[in-house]
Amino acid sequence: MKRLLQRMTTEEKIGQLLQLSADFFADNQAVITGPMKAHKLTIETVYNAGSVLGISGAARVRKIQTDYLAHSRLKIPLLFMADVVHGYRTIFPIPLALGGSFSPQVMQQAAEVAAAESAAGGVHVTFAPMVDLVRDPRWGRVMESTGEDPYLNSVMAKAAVTGFQGLETLDQDHIAACVKHFAAYGAPEAGREYNTVDISEWRFREQYLPAYAAAIESQALLVMTSFNTLFGVPATANQRLMRQILRDELQFNGVLISDWDAIGELVHHGVAGDLSAAADLALKAGVDIDMMSFAYAKYLERVSKLDQQTAQLIDESVLRILELKQTLGLFDDPYRGISEDREQKIIQSEANLHAAQIAAEQSIVLLKNRQQVLPITPEKRIALIGPLADTGDILGSWSWSGKAEETPHLRTTLEQAVAHVQVARGSDYHMGNDALLHEAEAIARDADLIIAAVGLPSDESGEATSMTDIRLPESQRKLLRLLASLGKPLVTVVFTGRPMDLTEVDALSDAVLLAWFPGSRGAQALTNVLTGVVNPSGKLPMTFPRSVGQVPLYYNYYRTGRPINHDQTDDENKYLSKYIDESNDPLYPFGFGLSYADFELSDLTTDTAILKPESTVNLQVRVVNHSNVPGQTVVQWYIHQEVGETVRPVKQLISFEKVMVPAQGIVTCSLALTPDMLASMHMNLTESTDEGNYQIMVGLNADDIQQQEIQYAENKEEHNA
Ligand code: GLC
Repeated sequence: MKRLLQRMTTEEKIGQLLQLSADFFADNQAVITGPMKAHKLTIETVYNAGSVLGISGAARVRKIQTDYLAHSRLKIPLLFMADVVHGYRTIFPIPLALGGSFSPQVMQQAAEVAAAESAAGGVHVTFAPMVDLVRDPRWGRVMESTGEDPYLNSVMAKAAVTGFQGLETLDQDHIAACVKHFAAYGAPEAGREYNTVDISEWRFREQYLPAYAAAIESQALLVMTSFNTLFGVPATANQRLMRQILRDELQFNGVLISDWDAIGELVHHGVAGDLSAAADLALKAGVDIDMMSFAYAKYLERVSKLDQQTAQLIDESVLRILELKQTLGLFDDPYRGISEDREQKIIQSEANLHAAQIAAEQSIVLLKNRQQVLPITPEKRIALIGPLADTGDILGSWSWSGKAEETPHLRTTLEQAVAHVQVARGSDYHMGNDALLHEAEAIARDADLIIAAVGLPSDESGEATSMTDIRLPESQRKLLRLLASLGKPLVTVVFTGRPMDLTEVDALSDAVLLAWFPGSRGAQALTNVLTGVVNPSGKLPMTFPRSVGQVPLYYNYYRTGRPINHDQTDDENKYLSKYIDESNDPLYPFGFGLSYADFELSDLTTDTAILKPESTVNLQVRVVNHSNVPGQTVVQWYIHQEVGETVRPVKQLISFEKVMVPAQGIVTCSLALTPDMLASMHMNLTESTDEGNYQIMVGLNADDIQQQEIQYAENKEEHNA
């Protein structure tokens, strides 16, 4: 590629650094369109652009690539990138739901199916996985993350990158992964979209950095910069973040692409006086591709002729882009992966749709099931009521090519499974009226059991959807109050892209089922769970608060000097870290999810109480299923460090295992504990393991745990007990 680089003109080099949106290629060729005129670009600039985002479809990509190469002096292929986040045409549950499956296998398969379908449609790179750690449900993009825990996010990040790119080679059924958003975009102050992120480097490195590192360890070929400021400088201009941490420490040598116009936004942030200065800052930070700010295209050519450093930086970026195109095989075959035939065969194939259904079945979370009101039996007369009872809008945000109109409705699948189903809307998403309520009441009175399908539309989570009130809209809560007053069993199914304040929903309902946005076969998956064909096994990847006033609320919070002591009275408990108007506890904790089976953890044992360097402590626990229903559950291993150089979380997930336990069966799960699993971030911003006592906890969620004390000693000889 260096020889090719040497043959390129400065204009051609800078062209490779430019990414354009799809509308610059109308009618399958570059044309003078509104955006081009608006940005005063020439047709030559467009034909010089190195990549385009948001275009797919075998025939369309083939035509554009052909037209583009005809105008390329050196025949450097155009790179096609897209947001294939949780599916291409077969849409899987939103990533937050996939995180809640606690199954890396499910995440990897979702990415594999998305890669195969989109590669056939000519996509080369996906802007995924998004691995931002999230703890604030007011922020709409929590739906795109896998949750609040560094370890869970790291496991899922690896699975996603492996699914998208493949294990060894990047073959025709796989696409390059672009891990995003670097970094810490998930921690905007007040949960307000695009707001400042201001966390210590100590916390960033302990809680936020691990998942990006995991994705890069899995050889993610691209990274995307985040819109937000971090450590006082916007990420896209942050040399410490991008050169020192990303490139040097994490040894990332792939392509760094800005988020949409993030270079241009450096002017709004106030760190660049104009677009030219913004281009200079971003280039120096190591941003290779400018997504849609045009700063590079407009200002780098003149500067590069005056400034050798700029010319050198441009060459480095261009070389990384050329190498990415070579890794993708585009120089050998600019039409790599494109196949109208495969498009026909695999897109929305039954196998792919079935995989999406399994993923949904693994992600749905049973949050309440009073007196085993679920599963329902086929002879029950059901009233299905709510704005999500009869809609295909269950794909969630970032489902790009997914089509709601081809997505089965819950009404349809339930009517196929249960003999007597009556359906009423009861309320719109945000508005209701007496007529809707009367219609709902009439069918509810005629039923044995009510299923309320409530929640938000897909477009009320995802980018630019921050909210201050995370309860169900009042009109839907009013509907639930009416239904609950009828004295019939009430099962509430919640469709949402974020944790919501379900306090009132929980109080009104006999059962609560969290559907998230379950994707193309979500309705069938839900019906299978409602009727007991499938035993739910999803767990919460994010805490559900009792009130938005508790947010950010997460399980692995750092200890304080004034911990609550549940053995003391409220008067004795006055001057402690708490509220006077709400509990500290969540409504539903991280890792929580019920089953139709009756699981119990017992007999936690360890083969020794002393852990030494280079050694392992083996712990075991038994999972007992006291019921006649087989089912899966997630055994979660946490640690609590009693004394550390820096304050330690009250508990931290270090391992988990999703297991199937037969009816009346017992399964033994084990943990091989090594010193590195106890490591913590120290004041000098390096990780190491302190000597001392650690509680090793095991549970089926973050609150209900058993524990064993282990001592980590670097020199102490083990005393014979
Ligand atoms: C958006 C998002 C980013 C996405 C990009 C391209 O603004 O922040 O996640 O990949 O633009 O669509």
